[in-house]
Amino acid sequence: AEEFGDLVVALPRKEQFIVGRLYKGFWLPEPYAPGILAVRRRFTPRPDDVVLTSYPKCGTTWLKALAFAAMARDAYPPVAADHPLRRLNPHACIPFMEDIFTERQEAKLEGLPSPRLINTHTPYSLLPETVTTGGGCKVVYICRDPKDMVVSLYHFLRRLQPDLSFADTFHSVLEGTVPYGPMWDHILGYWHASVARPDRVLFLKYEDLLQNTGEHVRKLAEFMGRPFSAAEEAAGTVASVVELCSFDNMKNLEANKTGATERKYISIAHDAFFRKGVTGDWVNHMSPEMASRLDEIFRDKLRGTVLT
Ligand code: A3P
Repeated sequence: AEEFGDLVVALPRKEQFIVGRLYKGFWLPEPYAPGILAVRRRFTPRPDDVVLTSYPKCGTTWLKALAFAAMARDAYPPVAADHPLRRLNPHACIPFMEDIFTERQEAKLEGLPSPRLINTHTPYSLLPETVTTGGGCKVVYICRDPKDMVVSLYHFLRRLQPDLSFADTFHSVLEGTVPYGPMWDHILGYWHASVARPDRVLFLKYEDLLQNTGEHVRKLAEFMGRPFSAAEEAAGTVASVVELCSFDNMKNLEANKTGATERKYISIAHDAFFRKGVTGDWVNHMSPEMASRLDEIFRDKLRGTVLT
């Protein structure tokens, strides 16, 4: 990725929790910016690839687990005691595009058997054209009530920066100066893509998933080209996937209570990906005034689309 290093150095810079570089309207984490640019140049999707995308702290880990469990269910029955998701953190099961390209480890992607599952936080408009035009590959996006995202982000960042205040996190989200922010533009890009290319882009919401996980697992599997058969339905395979990936199950697995995911610039303790796993925790963190301010901004930015 050195080839893009010079370009990144010339971009507007801001000290955030992680230094950000402003590129085409988004604050990219500086260590990943060269990798994100390299993906645009060099990633060649296979038609049956599924790229799992999200704004950070909106349910990435859960989506990865569900997609992996559904996609690989022939090789790994979800009830199997030695299922990879019972032995490994979900992030170890699906590669993170930013890391792969920043470290120039594309050979790892090439070596993966099809259908591949790949993950990124890159905004839709910055994905390679090979993904966003023509046949491309499939893209699944998950978003979440921004109020709960702020709370989740705050707790996550606090582990890296213990003196961080909730107010600071809140204001950075409102300013848009958060990793991959602004969040509303991130959501909008994927929303519009899902409307324009519904066969290629699936838009999911954390709240909907929590409310009826089974229904969304079916939707996800069908979208990925792996619908559940009548025999699987009769055997309760959907429920097994849901159970395997449930918050309570995942949080209590040894693989998720211990160890860490080593990223390009940070080490993230596995238990940091499993905090509360509910909706509405924002009431415990922000005043009604803060909540309505945030709601108002997102309502305005996302008018006529997903959250309105
Ligand atoms: P909270 O901090 O609100 O608990 P990401 O994976 O994008 O980093 O998002 C993390 C959020 O998803 C955290 O939210 C985390 O608890 C929640 N989460 C992780 N695994 C989950 C699961 N299996 N089911 C539901 N929520 C989950």
